[in-house]
Amino acid sequence: MHFYIMTLFPDMVMNGLNTSITGRAIEKGLLSIDAVNIRDYAYNKHNSVDDYPYGGGAGMLMQAEPVYQTYEAICQKSGKRPRVVYLSPQGRTFCQTMAEEYAREEELVLLCGHYEGIDERVLEEIVTDYVSIGDYVLTGGELPAMIMVDAISRLVPGVLHNDVSAEFESFQDNLLEYPQYSRPEIWHEKQVPQVLLSGHHANIEAWRREQSIIRTAKNRPDLLKKANLTEKELEIAKKSLAID
Ligand code: ADE
Repeated sequence: MHFYIMTLFPDMVMNGLNTSITGRAIEKGLLSIDAVNIRDYAYNKHNSVDDYPYGGGAGMLMQAEPVYQTYEAICQKSGKRPRVVYLSPQGRTFCQTMAEEYAREEELVLLCGHYEGIDERVLEEIVTDYVSIGDYVLTGGELPAMIMVDAISRLVPGVLHNDVSAEFESFQDNLLEYPQYSRPEIWHEKQVPQVLLSGHHANIEAWRREQSIIRTAKNRPDLLKKANLTEKELEIAKKSLAID
C-alpha cells in the first residue's frame, strides 16, 4: 500500500514511520510512504505557505494554492487522483472499521493541517474524507496521520508476522482483548491462570472469550451493544456490569 502524506514536517512523519514494524514493512516493500513537503509548492519568494484569515481572528491559515499544487504533483506521480483524508478534529472519529476500509485502498493521501487550519476552498476541491483521531485538539495533523498509517498498515497482508494476531484482537467482534501471560509461571506471587497451562484448547478458548466479555463490560460497556453475544454470554456481561 502506498501513502502520500502532505505536510510541513516530512521529517517528523518519516522518522516515526521508518521505525519498528512500519519501518520493517517499508524495507520489505509492503508499504511505501512519500512525505511531500507543502512548502516545496510555496509560490512567493519567502517560501511562506500561511496568511491571515479574512474577517480577522487568531492565528494564521494555510493557503489554498500550495496545498492544491502539492496534491496535483501527487496526482501526476500517481497517475490517478487518490482519495484525500484531511486530519481534523471536525472529522469522523477514526475507528478499527475505518482502518479496515482504508486498508483496501492501493493509495491514500493524508493531508496534515497546521496553524489554525487550511483555506476552505482547497478543502472543498481535493478532500474526500474528514477524519479526527479523538475529541481533543493537537497542534497539527502529523501525529494523527502517523496513527492512521500505523493502524491501517498492520492490516496490510504480510506487515505483521502473524496475520492471525490482527484478526483476534481488541475490537474484533466489538470485544476487548483477553488478558495474556508469559513466563515465569509465578511472578510477584501472582500465578498464571491454571486453564492456560492445561493444554486444553477448547477450555482455553472459552476462558478467553469470557474474559473478553468481562473486560468489555467493565471498561467499554458501550461496545457490548454491537457485540454478538449468546444468551449465556449476555448473562456474564450483565453480571460484570452489576458488580461495577
Ligand atoms: N488535528 C488537530 N487535532 C486533531 C485531531 N484530534 N484529529 C485529527 N487531526 C487533528
